[in-house]
Amino acid sequence: MMKKLEIVLKYLNEKRGFDFSGYRASMIERRAGKRLSASKCKDYDEYLRFIRKHPDELDNLIDVLTINVSRFFRDSLSFEYIAEKILPVIVYEKKNSDDHCLRIWSTGCSMGEEPYSIAILINEIFEKEDFNLNLNIFATDIDSMALKKAKEAVYSFESIKDVKYRLLTKYFKTQGESFRLISKIKEMVAFAFYDMLEKKSYAPSESIYGDFDVVLCRNVLIYFNTEYQDLIFDKLYRALAKHGYLVLGEVERPSMKFQTRFRKVNECCHVYQKM
Ligand SMILES: C[S@@+](CC[C@H](N)C(=O)[O-])C[C@H]1O[C@@H](n2cnc3c(N)ncnc32)[C@H](O)[C@@H]1O
Repeated sequence: MMKKLEIVLKYLNEKRGFDFSGYRASMIERRAGKRLSASKCKDYDEYLRFIRKHPDELDNLIDVLTINVSRFFRDSLSFEYIAEKILPVIVYEKKNSDDHCLRIWSTGCSMGEEPYSIAILINEIFEKEDFNLNLNIFATDIDSMALKKAKEAVYSFESIKDVKYRLLTKYFKTQGESFRLISKIKEMVAFAFYDMLEKKSYAPSESIYGDFDVVLCRNVLIYFNTEYQDLIFDKLYRALAKHGYLVLGEVERPSMKFQTRFRKVNECCHVYQKM
């Protein structure tokens, strides 16, 4: 990565505690470049001076570096597979065991679209089954602004455009041009700040350290180099319960080091099982 951009990132880390050193250089350069031109600076020396003078620019920089793009039921095939094949099996197994707690972790949850999609699917199952488990859906991100929006749970059309009409009318109320998620689903998810690159813990302390039946880590790994992907896979592996499921994004797969520790459950979607 360009030396001067590294200095900017070091400054960002000192001021806000965001460590982007493990992110792919090409991605960082492309994204930071957008702020360079937006603030009309000719190079990163000038940009650093600009930031020192206008500390709010750090928020804009964090914003472009942490890409929050998400939507409900993004990658619909994986969600259908989870709804049809994964969740019913887990619920059935739990029903017939002493463990009546279903634990799910959405890492890099952005504005909540992903964990809330799972909450909707689980609610549908619980209604049909006439049976409730203790449910613990835990969702984390490093972007505090995104977490704040997640708790508000009001979305634009872009975010809900893949939601089936029946579910849309059942779980959202329109509010002007926006869509507000109903409280019942909002209350099913607990949000917290957690950095997947943090080296001191394997999972957020609020999650009581793991034993998750399902962990979603989608469209997060793409930002990181191999060393950091390994660090994240180590966390994901440890956080999962025995035979727990890991859901990745469409272009992601376990890093080389972890390929023998996860089994892909079928060819058409991005769900893996811990071996
Ligand atoms: C493209 S969004 C993916 C959202 C959702 N998982 C999905 O697939 O639709 C990536 C999210 O990862 C978060 N993120 C980036 N680096 C992270 C890190 N080190 N720890 C936790 N979350 C991170 C970003 O803030 C952003 O909300």
